Amino acid sequence: MSNKLKEPSRNCSRCSRLKKFRIENRKKYPSWFNAPVPSILNNNSELLIVGLAPGVTGANRTGRPFTGDHAGLILFSTLKKFGFSRGFYKENGFDSLELDNCSITNAVRCVPPKNLPNTSEIKNCEIFLQKTINEHKNLKLIIALGLISHKSIVSSFGFKQKDFKFGHKNKHRINQNITLIDSYHCSRYNTNTRRLTQDMFDEIFRETKIALKN
Ligand code: URA
Repeated sequence: MSNKLKEPSRNCSRCSRLKKFRIENRKKYPSWFNAPVPSILNNNSELLIVGLAPGVTGANRTGRPFTGDHAGLILFSTLKKFGFSRGFYKENGFDSLELDNCSITNAVRCVPPKNLPNTSEIKNCEIFLQKTINEHKNLKLIIALGLISHKSIVSSFGFKQKDFKFGHKNKHRINQNITLIDSYHCSRYNTNTRRLTQDMFDEIFRETKIALKN
């Protein structure tokens, strides 16, 4: 792999387990994307949302983060409500969705079995998160969706985890320009169990809007 790559190559082999899973999925579902899913990038944007990893029948199928699964329905409708997107969203990705002042990426770019990347896979992919963050020269806010994404962001800035405790609505000063806001992940599990309600998710974006105005 070249260090110049901003996104992993289609056949990235940094993680043997994820590569094996990708090859199996390509055989089973040849019409699916089945590759590291590239970020939705607006390099001038002030907001970056960091998810966990592609869902097998969501982003891994469609090739766009959060597109095609439950988490995407919640995320894209909330982005629209708060003016971070334009156009219409369709679960197959054939839509007119455009993000406004916002980018979306994942801490891990390949789909992991059972939606759970292991520690070394998260570490292997950190370089791509770092590059994505660094590309955003106007970045003011990062929303971490879930603990793994939070930890990966903290680690990509070279900070110690103990100084950045994850919690829904926790805010962390990263540097002079950038603040990190934590949110519970908008996964089906979290919304079904009401660990995350729509009101709680809205609060994150309400605070984001206010922070970006200052
Ligand atoms: N789809 C993604 O791309 N990322 C997530 O974190 C969840 C679903």
